[in-house]
Amino acid sequence: MKKPIIAFTIGLVLTGCSNAEVINSGAQSVDAAVPIEEKLIDSVVTEKPIEKATPQEDTDSIEKKDEVINVVSNPDDPLVLVNKHYPLPEDYEPSDLVAPDIPFSFKEDLPKRYVRKIAAEALEELFAEAKKEQLELLGASGYRSYQRQEAIFTANVAKKGEEEARKVSAVPGQSEHQTGLSMDVTSRFVGYDVIEEFAETKEGIWLKDNAHKYGFIIRYPKGKEDITGYSYEPWHIRYVGKEAATVIYENGYTFEEYLSH
Ligand code: DAL
Ligand code: ZN
Repeated sequence: MKKPIIAFTIGLVLTGCSNAEVINSGAQSVDAAVPIEEKLIDSVVTEKPIEKATPQEDTDSIEKKDEVINVVSNPDDPLVLVNKHYPLPEDYEPSDLVAPDIPFSFKEDLPKRYVRKIAAEALEELFAEAKKEQLELLGASGYRSYQRQEAIFTANVAKKGEEEARKVSAVPGQSEHQTGLSMDVTSRFVGYDVIEEFAETKEGIWLKDNAHKYGFIIRYPKGKEDITGYSYEPWHIRYVGKEAATVIYENGYTFEEYLSH
């Protein structure tokens, strides 16, 4: 893949519109779109080039904030569980990142345009079907390195304080975006943002009911915050394969519940 080394500045810009005004407000500039997590960064952030992954053979336990957490030993497994208890190795980077052929809410060739090949092919199928249904889905944020997540999390802490930040943003190493199996999606009807109101758009409703057919799950469902550890994110889809996604969808499971059955 290309190796962009792009420094870009993201201003701390709050839109003048409430969510209610933005939703269903019609076309807006894609150039103006900045995913909400990244909107919080008001410093210059350099996205580093993607480097080759080092497969992990062993599971290490590390102490962090008085709890034992287990570094995952199977980061390349499409069913890898990454959450507050199971972080990825800091240097983990998927070796098969590609840019899916789908529309995005930004134009640049940034790492967030990339996902693992298996997820890219599934995203292309999902987006093609959405288009047939006259829906306007856009990719907003895929792969994120450990260092990129660190910048996002730090900015969230500065903005909201650590306790609130931890509800919406992963500590570096604990973000599924580092697996290359997740994508945040959006639409013009929420101003190309990633906000809860996306769930009420026709795109958000279709995604919730159809993502499993292409191997994706809504990773952080409403009412399951105590299990997933995060607030509801109707925009964050995670590739797990069609079989697992269908079981999860049909039973209303979280990924954690699925893996414990
Ligand atoms: N917003 C999700 C939890 C992340 O930061 O990966
Ligand atoms: Zn996400």
